[in-house]
Amino acid sequence: MKIKDFGVEIWMNKYEDEGKYNLAETCVASLKTKELLEIAGNTEKAIADILEMRLTYGAIKGSENLRNSVSKLYEKATKDNIIITHGAIGGNSLVLETLVEKGDHVISVLPTYQQLYSIPEAIGADVDILKLKEEDNFLVNIEDLKKLIKPETKVININNPNNPTGSVMKEALLREICKLAEEVDAYVFCDETYGDLIHNGEKIPRITDIYDKGISTGSVSKTYSLAGLRIGWINGPIDFIENVFKHRDYNTISCGMIDDYLANIALENKDKILKRNLELINKNKNILDKWVNSNPHISYIKPESGTTALLKYDMDIPSEELSLKLLKEASVVMLPGSAMEMEGYLRIGYANYTEVLEKGLEAFSKLLEKY
Ligand SMILES: Cc1ncc(COP(=O)(O)O)c(C=O)c1O
Repeated sequence: MKIKDFGVEIWMNKYEDEGKYNLAETCVASLKTKELLEIAGNTEKAIADILEMRLTYGAIKGSENLRNSVSKLYEKATKDNIIITHGAIGGNSLVLETLVEKGDHVISVLPTYQQLYSIPEAIGADVDILKLKEEDNFLVNIEDLKKLIKPETKVININNPNNPTGSVMKEALLREICKLAEEVDAYVFCDETYGDLIHNGEKIPRITDIYDKGISTGSVSKTYSLAGLRIGWINGPIDFIENVFKHRDYNTISCGMIDDYLANIALENKDKILKRNLELINKNKNILDKWVNSNPHISYIKPESGTTALLKYDMDIPSEELSLKLLKEASVVMLPGSAMEMEGYLRIGYANYTEVLEKGLEAFSKLLEKY
């Protein structure tokens, strides 16, 4: 199966470790195992459990403990709605290959994580792009969606909170999207990898809690700072999850037992981790905001969620060239908009170490002084 190059991942693989200041990272400063266990206050027990663990394939769908903990992130789910996957990337992939067939009509927002439109395209679906525009604060424009939706639309793919824009659709807008989907009996698939990273602590409903044909993916990577565990999940209607399982048998068997165990500890202590992460995000966002406001060449839609933002620049230079200049002349890694079909922007990840952000922005300012 031919598939388009995954712009963001290719760029990250090539350049992420090349600069001193990584402002491309989308995780909230990742936790050490030690830090996770300290937060949970159960280091001794956890180490003892892990040392005694016999490393079989473990529970194939993911442990009951973990599926129960994941289900508690949602209002309506039980463990039977949940299947554990290799990160949200594995979850997204499984959702799309289970749901989408050649010739199906699919709508996907853009910008977003590229899987949401490139996998359906590769399968041979008829994909319509719903462009998120700056004038709409990068939120879904319902009138635009109405123009794209057809009686045969199979699924509408959205991403909430959104990577890269940091925008978040609230309940009223989500319900409008679901209403349109319901009229044509379509699914709404929402990548909720940044779920709960709403900067003011507001709770936004998960798609599966407001729509019967809603499907959600998530993971411990961003919200819980544990990307190294590679644990994600799908939440969906039980008949859909059973179909996912048939596909998953071909590419997963099970996820790692130790990863499953540690992810469950994180979810059992989710409020503490979330508090740590929202504090760090808001602190760093203030630094970013001051920098943007004092910089005549840069503007942005201030993010309300997640860990990333799109920086718009007014210089006459392609984003890839600007990113490479930043890397070579200022040792700053930042993603070019061209990697996510958003020319004229750079994507910043600002939720990592504060010192790296400060120094990276300073180095960027010096480069901009040349313009
Ligand atoms: C929107 C979105 N979905 C999915 C993923 C994949 O995340 P995971 O580490 O859980 O596989 C990412 C990673 O950057 C992402 O930004």
